[in-house]
Amino acid sequence: MFNLENFDLRLDTEFIGRNFIYSVEVESTNSVLLDKANKFNIDGTVLLAEKQSKGRGRKERIWYSAKEQNLTFSILLTNKKLLSKNLNLLNFAASLSVALSIEKLYQLKSELKWPNDVLINSKKICGILLESTSQGNKIDRLVIGIGLNVNQSLFQGNFNAEPTSIKIETEGININREILLAELLNTFEGVIEKIPVSPDSILKDWKERCSLMGEKISITDNNSIKYGIFEDIDNDGYLLLRIKDKIERIHFGDVSTF
Ligand code: BTN
Repeated sequence: MFNLENFDLRLDTEFIGRNFIYSVEVESTNSVLLDKANKFNIDGTVLLAEKQSKGRGRKERIWYSAKEQNLTFSILLTNKKLLSKNLNLLNFAASLSVALSIEKLYQLKSELKWPNDVLINSKKICGILLESTSQGNKIDRLVIGIGLNVNQSLFQGNFNAEPTSIKIETEGININREILLAELLNTFEGVIEKIPVSPDSILKDWKERCSLMGEKISITDNNSIKYGIFEDIDNDGYLLLRIKDKIERIHFGDVSTF
């Protein structure tokens, strides 16, 4: 059981997670916060679910997470000023916050994989799914869904990327989810506060942890696959792929080595 009191004691934010909804089971925390009919409108609302019956991953994949062991939650952002900025930065802010929190609390070295996976020892510990709704041509709500593997020690099935959890990587220590979630939300608020003032520092911190930079990679998007050298990430957050002597700017895709 998630202890709300312990979590609340450690939450040190202005607005992220101040409206906190705890749920035993939902289809998907992203779907709930994204649907305007559910009337969750407060900026920074966090919905945590102990189980998702239809947890969703990137590219229509299913996100599997064992009940009550991990952190599967979504953060709702509705501040128009923030949402008018490059959303890639919010994407980076989320994965960077996960990495920083894991490093601080458990001294685990994490890597970030473009666009937003968090890896430990080359295995996936966290996936992030950003979804938005618009009014006219403006985004009016952004939902950042985070699936962080915490205390799960067994993963069965076929995974696109080999999964791991904090418990596995710390060799069996039971992780306090309340402390971790509070730390993550505190960190996330601190990182997004930097977006208007020093977006470059977010990109810099992200790139320092970015795996595969400078390596030969393939990028798969639907049926297309491109091969090249992972040259850099530009200021808008797009991946720059060197193919022979040309640089291609990649917006979406799954990165792998070959
Ligand atoms: C991925 O790596 O494919 C992204 C996975 C995102 C999973 C999280 S769990 C909480 C939130 N609700 C969902 O349905 N998906 C995200």
